[in-house]
Amino acid sequence: MTSSDTPKSWSGRFSVPVAETVKRYTASVLFDKRLATYDIQGSLAHAQMLCEVGILTENDFSAIQKGLAVISQEVEQDRFPWTLDDEDVHLNIEKRLTQLVGDAGKRLHTGRSRNDQVATDIRLYLRAAIDQHQIQLRALQCALICLAEGHVDTLMPGFTHLQVAQPVSFAHHLLAYVEMLGRDRQRLTDCRQRVNQLPLGAAALAGTSYPIRRERVAELLGFEGLCRNSLDAVSDRDFAIEYCAAASLLMVHLSRLSEELILWMSPRFNFVRIGDAFCTGSSIMPQKRNPDVPELVRGKSGRVIGHLMGLLVLMKGQPLAYNKDNQEDKEPLFDTVETLSQTLIIYAEMMSDVQVNEAALRQAAQEGFSTATDLADYLVKKGTPFRDAHEVVARAVRHAESEGCDLSDLPLATLQTFSSIIEPDVYEVLTLEGSVASRDIPGGTAPVRVRSALREARQRWDHAGE
Ligand code: ARG
Repeated sequence: MTSSDTPKSWSGRFSVPVAETVKRYTASVLFDKRLATYDIQGSLAHAQMLCEVGILTENDFSAIQKGLAVISQEVEQDRFPWTLDDEDVHLNIEKRLTQLVGDAGKRLHTGRSRNDQVATDIRLYLRAAIDQHQIQLRALQCALICLAEGHVDTLMPGFTHLQVAQPVSFAHHLLAYVEMLGRDRQRLTDCRQRVNQLPLGAAALAGTSYPIRRERVAELLGFEGLCRNSLDAVSDRDFAIEYCAAASLLMVHLSRLSEELILWMSPRFNFVRIGDAFCTGSSIMPQKRNPDVPELVRGKSGRVIGHLMGLLVLMKGQPLAYNKDNQEDKEPLFDTVETLSQTLIIYAEMMSDVQVNEAALRQAAQEGFSTATDLADYLVKKGTPFRDAHEVVARAVRHAESEGCDLSDLPLATLQTFSSIIEPDVYEVLTLEGSVASRDIPGGTAPVRVRSALREARQRWDHAGE
């Protein structure tokens, strides 16, 4: 970063140069230089349109194209002379362009303002980020589906209140997350439509008096439509807030899965083992294998939610139209995009490297009287009112507990002391397999249903691309 005493592009109005502290305080170039590629993209489209409508000459346009190509290379190769004297990415690039191509560079800003320019840049940046997330999310869903495919018949305790409730297929459990991530993908797709609207043409706030063609710029940049109101176009950041809300929900979903992985990896559960590459040891306790990655994902979800809150509060007090407050949208937004991208990438890799301890899952499912509901349902099907059946089973469970065994270990004669209508076929429903097989309805955990849910998930999330 270089700094010199060159006057600012807007300094004509002032008699005293801006204080050094103010310069540092108000500058955004240190972080918004990340928008350079999108700024160049937007400028190229704007210049082309200006040329097409006759506001710029062919010569000026071609000089601008050449200059921006040089700048693009400089940015890519980390050679661009960023300077705090030009407060943001827009002024830095414009100044450099003028150095490179002279007056043509000074004409580029005709019919636009940094207000509609920055709004365009962020939208282009966010659109690209969303497209990346879609690919990353799809990879994560595929990793979960692959893992699930090997475990349709692996039975585990399903929990409510973190107490053993009813047995479920491990694949069914994983598919719950595939669904959540599917909705996250839909939310991002939906958000993308509102991101993908062109602000350029709004200029500072009121539109421009030049006969520009906004539709043409939208077409060149791949925007689906135009922001319809110039004041709205330059001032609202709801699209970024919406993105952060979708990102927060996504992180919350991954935080829940992380919490489960952390519990499941504890020796008390010993349900799964995630690859060594995703764990760390302790510098003092040699036996430790810490699930750092899931713990950090859980932690980083807080950070992303924080950014959502930050942006909401940033917006809430702003009168129309553009206010400098909006410059503060960038760091939270960039950090959200990066945190989410890194999380999705690492999560897909981690879920492709999970070993499942089928025996431990089965044992846990057997230990918690997870088929008690099945016994109650058995009695109901034989005519006992549900509330009475519930009572009968509660007594049977108490008895089994005092004997230190499972319901299925109780002899028939003992079970019959609780209800005389119990017959030898009761053992079919008391097994884990019998229990899950009976939940044979759409969305249920019966292996036959889980298998078809898996097929459907593959089709929906893998092939359809959404
Ligand atoms: N750096 C500014 C931002 O991020 C660009 C727009 C500045 N506009 C202005 N009128 N000062 O919002």
